[in-house]
Amino acid sequence: MAEWVCRESPRIALDPAVGPGVFVDAIAALPRHARPRELHLLDIDPVMIAKLRTPTSIACRVAAADFITKRHVGPFDAVIANPPYVRHHDFDYGPRAWRDLERVTGAPIPRTTNLYGLFVLKIGSLLSARGRAAIITPSEWLRADFGVALKSYLLRENLLDAIIQFDHGASVFDGVLTTACITLLRKGRRPADPIRCATVSDERGLAALDFDAATSWLPAELQANEKWNALDKRSTSDRSTRKLSDFATCSRGIATGANDYFTLRPSDLKKWKIARRDVRPCITKARQIRRDRITADDLRRLITEDERVFLLQPGTPLNPAVRSYLEHGKKRGVHSRYLPSHRPTWYLPEHRMPAPILISVFARGRFRIVWNEANVLNLTAYHGIYPRDGQRATARKLFEWLSSSAGHGALQAHVRLYADGLLKVEPKDVEAVTIPDNLIPTRGRPRAVPKRGLPFQPA
Ligand SMILES: C[S@@+](CC[C@H](N)C(=O)[O-])C[C@H]1O[C@@H](n2cnc3c(N)ncnc32)[C@H](O)[C@@H]1O
Repeated sequence: MAEWVCRESPRIALDPAVGPGVFVDAIAALPRHARPRELHLLDIDPVMIAKLRTPTSIACRVAAADFITKRHVGPFDAVIANPPYVRHHDFDYGPRAWRDLERVTGAPIPRTTNLYGLFVLKIGSLLSARGRAAIITPSEWLRADFGVALKSYLLRENLLDAIIQFDHGASVFDGVLTTACITLLRKGRRPADPIRCATVSDERGLAALDFDAATSWLPAELQANEKWNALDKRSTSDRSTRKLSDFATCSRGIATGANDYFTLRPSDLKKWKIARRDVRPCITKARQIRRDRITADDLRRLITEDERVFLLQPGTPLNPAVRSYLEHGKKRGVHSRYLPSHRPTWYLPEHRMPAPILISVFARGRFRIVWNEANVLNLTAYHGIYPRDGQRATARKLFEWLSSSAGHGALQAHVRLYADGLLKVEPKDVEAVTIPDNLIPTRGRPRAVPKRGLPFQPA
């Protein structure tokens, strides 16, 4: 990072969150011609500043101050930073600070932006005409909603020169479970200069990184409001114009509003004498599926293990056993909970057909894509994918594609990353996944979701 920001022999450089001075040492170790003549060092923590040892070979100007509110002398030819990771509820800037930052972006900045995002914005605004910045942050802003304003500013100003991500295995920030990325900003880029994107495993991979071999994007190819997940890959599916939504719909699992009441164990059925015809097999927890298929045998095993795998769905007229279970529910106040009380019939969760493909909502690494051979329903730990044409063959092709490495790669482009490394997909993220042009032959335009009568009909 130090070598890159000092490549054009900067006159004046800045580290706005200097801490113990790791970057100061790196800059001081550069060959003389690369070192800046003046180095500004800031930290909000006066103790850090008091302890800081500055090199004698560079004129250093040190201050204990808040980078976001400090008015600077800038502009700077080089900025190097490892900004603090602080969630929005843990800092509180007044209207003036936000106004100054929004003057930079020319658009509202979400108040949910992590402090490191504000650092990146401010750093961008302080670069001289030949300025360069290298900033290491969590990579969450590439996918998070709060990152959209930041991305659109960086694209509009054509500041992004490269994004180097560390892969999931790399532990860059001590004790913090998140992936990291280094963002390189450069002022004075031409419109056709590429934004280079790469993923490395560790520091050694970073040192050996060949920028010419990295994936290149033109600024016009990147959309601020999309998640920048698989930036280092351009697979054939990226060039496809087809989305999963052309062939299938994805729906959230059934929300009961009281899982411990509406889902029953085999022993509960016995205790309440509820007949099997009044319940439907249902996956209630992510861990109940242990591989990429759920079969009738798996369901039998779950039943033997007395798992909660039956969703109450009584037929009419209600039989006496169900009646007494409903009375019990009322005594517990289940009928007046939020979801049950907003349903036409409090004890009837939404009616769904089993989805042929299930996808886990959360993952660390790969999402679980499941072929639902057992025809089970699913609660909200999984989303259900339903082919629009209702054909099992279409479902199978989609399942095989989503389960392949290429499919996982295509899905990665749409997942959301939580700060602790947990990944999440929403149904609309799944529907946005690109599908290879030739995966499913289409006759004419894709059909609308059939309303009735087909085997995989969503609610
Ligand atoms: C992640 S550390 C970076 C330290 C150093 N650059 C390094 O790599 O070792 C972040 C530093 O930012 C400082 N900091 C936190 N909020 C700040 C703010 N608003 N302005 C300036 N410094 C801040 C913290 O005191 C901490 O030393």
